[in-house]
Amino acid sequence: MNQHIGSPHDRLVSQDKAHAWHHLTQHQTFAGKDPMVITRGEGMTVWDSQGNAYLDATSGGVWTVNVGYGRKQIADAVHAQLMELCYFTQSMGNPPAAEFAARLIDKMPGMSRVYLSNSGSEANEKAYKMIRQIAHRKYGGKKHKILYRERDYHGTTITALSSSGQYERKHQYGPYTPGFVEVPHCCEYRSQYSGLDGKPLRGREYGVRAAQAIEEVILREGPDTVGGLVLEPMTAGGGIILPPEGYWETVQAICKKYDVLLHIDEVVCGLGRTGEWFGYQHFGVQPDFVTMAKGVASGYAAISCTVTTEEVFELFMDEPNQRMNYFRDISTFGGCTSGPTAALENISIIEQENLLENCRIQGARLLQGLQELQKRHEIIGDVRGKGLFAGLELVSDRELKTPVAESVAAGIVTDCMQHGLLIGRTNRSFEEFNNTLALTPALICSSAEIDRIIDTLDGALQRSSC
Ligand SMILES: Cc1ncc(COP(=O)(O)O)c(C=O)c1O
Repeated sequence: MNQHIGSPHDRLVSQDKAHAWHHLTQHQTFAGKDPMVITRGEGMTVWDSQGNAYLDATSGGVWTVNVGYGRKQIADAVHAQLMELCYFTQSMGNPPAAEFAARLIDKMPGMSRVYLSNSGSEANEKAYKMIRQIAHRKYGGKKHKILYRERDYHGTTITALSSSGQYERKHQYGPYTPGFVEVPHCCEYRSQYSGLDGKPLRGREYGVRAAQAIEEVILREGPDTVGGLVLEPMTAGGGIILPPEGYWETVQAICKKYDVLLHIDEVVCGLGRTGEWFGYQHFGVQPDFVTMAKGVASGYAAISCTVTTEEVFELFMDEPNQRMNYFRDISTFGGCTSGPTAALENISIIEQENLLENCRIQGARLLQGLQELQKRHEIIGDVRGKGLFAGLELVSDRELKTPVAESVAAGIVTDCMQHGLLIGRTNRSFEEFNNTLALTPALICSSAEIDRIIDTLDGALQRSSC
């Protein structure tokens, strides 16, 4: 749909082209085409500035808008709260923050304290700072190292990137914060370990072996130097990787054995994405820290949380005259009341509309649809998913599992967009494994919408192999 010169669309695009700096974008591409400007959202659909509608199977591009667009219930509550009290620093309490903390902890047996900030990266940095301060207070600073896993991502700041297992994201931004050490990934499809028969380990054997690789790193580094381990419950941007059977229980045992604090990064999986409130709750694991952001308020306001156990919290209790012995940290916008207000309504909507159940039901339909596609499209090497969190790993040779070039995955994403569907993909994170398509629609997704996602993808895959 072409717009005449001087239309709102033209004005928007020229302002955007002249002054906006987009995330993850090479702006030179806009020499030959206009940036896409999203103007409106309702339910599962977004519209661009030219009036084109798209079914959004990305929840806002980066798995955020869990309850869908246009929620008046959230907007009204935030409006009312802003008129009552928009902000006060979190060194004081405020009603929505207190109510939200209690409501959240209700969903997280074993956890106890909620520290508010405003991005996933920041929430993770808070946990890292807590682990470092605990090392100083309990272990003379020695037990300060934090392990992270190959292919996981924990944010964009320099220290969050120091804990990133996605190499390409790190290029050109170093030097990095010392004390972060990588452990191997746990992607069974790309099993790194073989059994006595020389074949790659699979299933439970693989899961236990992949977790033991963490123990090997702890022993190599020295258990008295390792204070924390940060893991995504299921790897998101690194390729939708589900932990293999046996993995999490072994990880938990290793952390206990070596007195390593377990930090689970639920920035993507938190608040329902995988069909439970939190990803780790599928595996019966008990973390010391849980961080979350994107889905906490479904993008209606910025909020992130660093949640800890009471045991962790108590390590920061001391006489008030001890100047150094509390968590000396602040996040200005952690005091915005819009965040916890939106988050409270977000939780209410998930409960009122049974969205966890819908996520499980529609997630199973999505997975089944993707498995059907795999039977017909050689390019699909692996299908992975839990709830409305699914990925297709694309290969040019199924036997050799050769990853397709990133441009192939990008071409399929563009084709889907041209046919009214937004899907995601791994993106300039690795040299070779930018080959996974991501399907992560909002938790409100209907059966008809799942079927449309599958049909459109089917068409795009057919066209890509022509
Ligand atoms: C698992 C995970 N942790 C942390 C982050 C960082 O969150 P933010 O972009 O809000 O800083 C992301 C962002 O994609 C993420 O996927």
